Formats: sequence, structure tokens, C-alpha cells
Amino acid sequence: MTTTAVTENGAALALDGVSRAYGRGAPALDGVDLVVPRGRFVAVMGRSGSGKSTLLRCAAGLERPTAGRVRIGGTDLATLKAAGLTRLRRDRIGFVFQSLNLVSALNVRENVTLPLLLAGAREGRALDARALAGLDAVGLADRAEDRPENLSGGQRQRVAIARALVNEPEVVFADEPTAALDPVTAAGVLALLRRAVDERGRTVVLVTHDPVAATWTDEAVFLDRGRIVGRLDRPDETAVREALGAHAETGRHLAVAR
Ligand SMILES: Nc1ncnc2c1ncn2[C@@H]1O[C@H](COP(=O)(O)OP(=O)(O)OP(=O)(O)O)[C@@H](O)[C@H]1O
Ligand SMILES: [Mg+2]
Repeated sequence: MTTTAVTENGAALALDGVSRAYGRGAPALDGVDLVVPRGRFVAVMGRSGSGKSTLLRCAAGLERPTAGRVRIGGTDLATLKAAGLTRLRRDRIGFVFQSLNLVSALNVRENVTLPLLLAGAREGRALDARALAGLDAVGLADRAEDRPENLSGGQRQRVAIARALVNEPEVVFADEPTAALDPVTAAGVLALLRRAVDERGRTVVLVTHDPVAATWTDEAVFLDRGRIVGRLDRPDETAVREALGAHAETGRHLAVAR
């Protein structure tokens, strides 16, 4: 067995030659290979239209790739029918989006319990306690009975993170969760994701444009025209800016170790 195979078997997420085409134009994703070990925080970066959200949707089973293979914790998503894919998303994946979708008819606590209820948990004290523990971890236990509309953007984003983590998912996918936040609030949100990785062993894939956000992660992966064109371990802000600039200015592809 090769080293790569060993790594992939223990991986939280593995993409193997994943492509996604829409219509006749250039593919949005073009042969992406990516292995994310458990307990790792990875940033996906690249200019607008480079395929970041498409990568996230394919990796999270929200969209089927047109070629290649996606595995979550060893499960090949192509082997799942629609119902199985829905269950996998519900039970094993957490989502945080920029335009987050808290349910306005529910209070904060009910929003956090939603994934558990959808997974078949019964309403009651045990469920509420779990939601409150999650809200406590994001510093919002005292807002549990509030409506989402009474919270600030950063507070809502923290509720979305509590909700994404409540079912202890194998992988959390976050698409620009800090784009609408001020730097201090954004740092608070990123710190929460970092803690989920460090203290609870979660795996997080974060799409971001922000070089500062990338510094919270273990690895930054750079996309250009649907391809991975570079990677940085323990990215620092300067290196990330340079990498982003290199692709933007010259379109030159950095060497990628496969
Ligand atoms: N449903 C779709 N139908 C057709 N084309 C699509 C669809 N979704 C994405 N695309 C195209 O695929 C490419 C990649 O889009 P994607 O949303 O993944 O980019 P992105 O890197 O997330 O950009 P941004 O930073 O602006 O969010 C773009 O050219 C986009 O127009
Ligand atoms: Mg996007």
C-alpha cells in the first residue's frame, strides 16, 4: 500500500480527480485532488469564480461531480442514492454559509437543535441541554430564547457555527462565513472554528478570500480556474497574499506536489 493510500483511508475528506462542468463552458472544477486528514483546518482560496463554492458543494454532497470521486470518512458519495446522501449530510456534515440560513420562525435554541431533530432526536430537556452547551461554547447561552433577527451578524454567525457543530459532524464546511463581519468579530468566529478543531478534533474546510482568515488554518489550498495551483502549510498572511497575487497577476500555475 502506498503512503497516499494510507493517508486517504484515514482521511475525513478525500477528493480524487473531481471535476464539475456546467453546460459547454470551461469546467468550474477540473480534476481536483485533495485529502484532508481528520482534525485539520483547511482554507480554500482563489479569486472570484475560481471554483471554491463548487468544490465545497461537491465535497459536501450538495452537488454531484461530473467526474472523479468524493469520499467522506471512507464513504464514496457516488455509491449513495439521494436519500442516503441526504442522511449523510444530515448526520455527518455541518454547514456554515455566508448568507446563513437560520430559521426566523424559531428562536436561537430551536435553531441549534434543528439538525438533531431532523436526525430523529426527541424534543425535551436532553436536547435543549445539548443546544445550550453548544450556545455556551460560542458565548451565546444567554440569547437562547431570542429570535435570530434580534442578534447581530456576528452573533448569528456564531449561532450558525453552534448549529453546524451540534451533531458532532465529521467535516464542517464553511463558505465565507466571515465575509460580512468586521475584523474583530471575524476573528471571534474563526477562533471558534479553530477551537472545534483543536479541542474536539473536528475537521473544517473553510472557503475564504481573506488572507488573515487563512492564518487561523493549518493549510491553505489555492484554486485557479477549477484547478489546485498551490498549497501552503501553516499559512502566514504575507505568503498567502503572495500566492494570491501570483495567480491573479500572471495566471502562472505553481508547482503542485501530487
Ligand atoms: N449552477 C451553476 N450553473 C452554471 N455555472 C455555474 C454554476 N455554479 C457555478 N458556476 C460557474 O462555475 C464557476 C465557479 O463558480 P464558484 O461559485 O464555484 O466560484 P467561487 O470561487 O466560489 O467564486 P466567489 O468567490 O465569487 O464565490 C464560475 O464560472 C461560475 O459562473
Ligand atoms: Mg463562492
